[in-house]
Amino acid sequence: MTHPTVIKLHDGNVMPQLGLGVWQASNEEVVTAIHKAIEVGYRSIDTAAAYKNESGVGKAIHSAGVAREDLFITSKLWNDSHLRAADALQESLEHLQLDYLDLYLIHWPVPASDHYIAAWKALIELQKQGLVKSIGVCNFQVPHLQRLIDETGVAPVINQIELHPLMQQRQLNAWNATHKIQTESWSPLAQGGEGVFDQKIIRHLADKYGKSPAQIVIRWHLDSGLVVIPKSVTPSRIAENFDVWDFRLDKDELSDIATLDKGKRLGPDPDQFGG
Ligand SMILES: NC(=O)c1ccc[n+]([C@@H]2O[C@H](COP(=O)([O-])OP(=O)(O)OC[C@H]3O[C@@H](n4cnc5c(N)ncnc54)[C@H](OP(=O)(O)O)[C@@H]3O)[C@@H](O)[C@H]2O)c1
Repeated sequence: MTHPTVIKLHDGNVMPQLGLGVWQASNEEVVTAIHKAIEVGYRSIDTAAAYKNESGVGKAIHSAGVAREDLFITSKLWNDSHLRAADALQESLEHLQLDYLDLYLIHWPVPASDHYIAAWKALIELQKQGLVKSIGVCNFQVPHLQRLIDETGVAPVINQIELHPLMQQRQLNAWNATHKIQTESWSPLAQGGEGVFDQKIIRHLADKYGKSPAQIVIRWHLDSGLVVIPKSVTPSRIAENFDVWDFRLDKDELSDIATLDKGKRLGPDPDQFGG
């Protein structure tokens, strides 16, 4: 494999398998980060209204010298906006200086307020209007997904969930797959640091392939068929995280990494969060 891969979504659209996450990056930081990312080959950017950096993302993509249709821009509907999705999308589009998004996601189900079905129906309409090319969700558990499908007949194309070697979400990923919902990994590097990078098997594979631990972990996501959006604002890491097309992990190596699963979240429990 010598070039970036794309994933075909169940609505017929395609998205890059590897993109840049920008949570916890300021409006200033994202401009430099996105320019670097685009320079080294990224075309997919994952932001959200809640990240408060959509205007920086907009500034970056409009000054990067790449055609709009060659970019894949994701944003997300925040928890307090489930009943005002059309207005919230307009605000995101204005900040991003765009007239459509490639992917719009419900950020959390917030079962306590129980408005995610209304939000999903609104997203279906926004897609029909051409304001968003594809629609999906984040942090949805099986009962939430089942309700969306039962009540609207429309399955999300993406379920973006916390997924990394310490939290592999095998059951939810398998359920997504049987319903043609693509799983996308957030916090794919387990937020950096030593939790994953110091694991013996990761260090062994890094030595074997002459790659960094982060590159091994990103390759694990790619070879597991996941969409992955590592975040960095550090130019050298942004380049490093995209330099993963010249090797693959074999079946035994993927199985070795599977043994690292602890089922332990870094982020909130989607059944409890929000509301
Ligand atoms: N839908 C949701 O609810 C949700 C929740 C969380 C995240 N997300 C999305 O997923 C994206 C990624 O998740 P995340 O930001 O939580 O964590 P992550 O991508 O797992 O890790 C990011 C951290 O790792 C560091 N890092 C990046 N590349 C590295 C490398 N090659 N070597 C060493 N350290 C490295 C970064 O530092 P520097 O930036 O300082 O380089 C940053 O501190 C987010 O940015 C966001 O777009 C979505």
